[in-house]
Amino acid sequence: MRIAVVGSGYVGLVAGACFADLGHDVILVDNDQQKVSALRSGQVPIHEKFLPELLQRHRGKRLEFSGDLQAAVRASSAIFIAVGTPPTEQGEADLSYVESVARSISAAINGYKIVVEKSTVPVYTSDWVRKIILRNAAPPDSFDVASNPEFLREGSAVTDFLYPDRIVVGADSERCAAVLRQIYAPLTDGSYYGRKDAIPRPDGAHIPPPLIVTSAKSAELIKHASNAFLAMKISFVNAVASICEAVGANVEQVCQGIGSDSRIGPRFLSPGIGYGGSCFPKDLMAFRSVARECGYEFRLLDEVMRINEEQRQRFLRKVRNALWTLRGKRLGVLGLAFKGGTDDIRESPAVLLVQALVQEGCQIAAYDPAASQRAREVLTAGVDFAASAYDAAAGADALLILTEWEEFAALDLKQLHSKLKYPIVIDGRNLYDPRVMAAHGFTYYSVGRTSASPEAQAAAASAPARKLKKS
Ligand SMILES: NC(=O)c1ccc[n+]([C@@H]2O[C@H](COP(=O)([O-])OP(=O)(O)OC[C@H]3O[C@@H](n4cnc5c(N)ncnc54)[C@H](O)[C@@H]3O)[C@@H](O)[C@H]2O)c1
Repeated sequence: MRIAVVGSGYVGLVAGACFADLGHDVILVDNDQQKVSALRSGQVPIHEKFLPELLQRHRGKRLEFSGDLQAAVRASSAIFIAVGTPPTEQGEADLSYVESVARSISAAINGYKIVVEKSTVPVYTSDWVRKIILRNAAPPDSFDVASNPEFLREGSAVTDFLYPDRIVVGADSERCAAVLRQIYAPLTDGSYYGRKDAIPRPDGAHIPPPLIVTSAKSAELIKHASNAFLAMKISFVNAVASICEAVGANVEQVCQGIGSDSRIGPRFLSPGIGYGGSCFPKDLMAFRSVARECGYEFRLLDEVMRINEEQRQRFLRKVRNALWTLRGKRLGVLGLAFKGGTDDIRESPAVLLVQALVQEGCQIAAYDPAASQRAREVLTAGVDFAASAYDAAAGADALLILTEWEEFAALDLKQLHSKLKYPIVIDGRNLYDPRVMAAHGFTYYSVGRTSASPEAQAAAASAPARKLKKS
């Protein structure tokens, strides 16, 4: 099928490349001419596993890049809108990009098309998109509007798109649902997974994925409610981690215990420095606004957001408690992206923490495998960018781990110890076993677990011996 994807950002670019891999002819549209030129010339503007391979495979064949939205609409049967929906100052979703795309689509409709919301949008947006297209003179039976929310995670976006837990199709007519069923057929009939050149299957993938057909409104709500629930799970475990710290329990053991309950599940039960990124913070605010407009005060969401903010403050207090005063301290920082596997720093808790530490007078040496370039644009004072984790640690009063990149969990601890001025590691992602860190000579702080140090370890080792002697 001929598909247009409007917006070539994290979602649009991945969706477009994956649709091409499913065998469709895709025109990826963006109004950022520089991005279009970069994509045409073979550049890959975002860091995402398997994306370079897919772009290389389909560029100039099943995948073309364009700045001409109306030509793309005329040439396509399905138009996916994947532009940004950032928050307004009041916390609502700013839908002006979606509206502007809908208006342009309207003028180019030349036969039955489906217009699909891929962007995350509040309930009722599909009604508005339909109204806007009609207002601009498109005949009512020449199009349908559907909601097909995207659940991919940055860092594993291509794999998530091709091996989804489910595909949600919110369509108010069978004609429209049939087009979306056809687009996703290579996934739902399993034929994609039998191909030799298919992107490798991740552990735990359920194939073929179910396709759930709902009303457009329900699909819009599914996306907001899913993100709100996941953010709630993160805040819940962060709150539990705080209690673990207070009583000397181990949050990992607690999570193993609660996550083994099949009604809860083990995923998304990792405490840390709070959620961030371009989705959870804005989607929670937007969902709260939607609820308020419908007459429901969703106070639970306020608490989820409050705990998330508090989690960053707790981490800052941890740094202060470890180092006493902060002015003039040199800190190595590992990780700036909002999560591992991506170069995205939007609403990154790591960046917010670095900014707070710079404000307190710290000098930062930061390293991130993919996000440093983007971070340079926002972290302009007080931050040096290091070329490796060991360079970031060199001469530092302490090392902070702020993003869960795999390479940060596999550091040469002997080398790290030799680089630091003081062997203090404050780990916001629980990448190491406290006993291992203490055995390597570090004083180690993490989240929801008792801090560890060689002295504490030695004292603990001798305590039972003393007890035994007494008896
Ligand atoms: N990033 C994620 O992990 C993720 C996951 C699921 C859903 N979403 C949702 O998907 C949507 C897009 O997110 P993103 O992270 O890809 O955003 P993004 O900012 O990376 O990309 C948006 C793109 O749209 C382009 N654009 C804006 N207006 C346009 C117009 N009028 N015509 C053509 N192109 C236009 C921009 O130039 C940009 O390239 C958002 O609603 C987001 O909430 C994002």
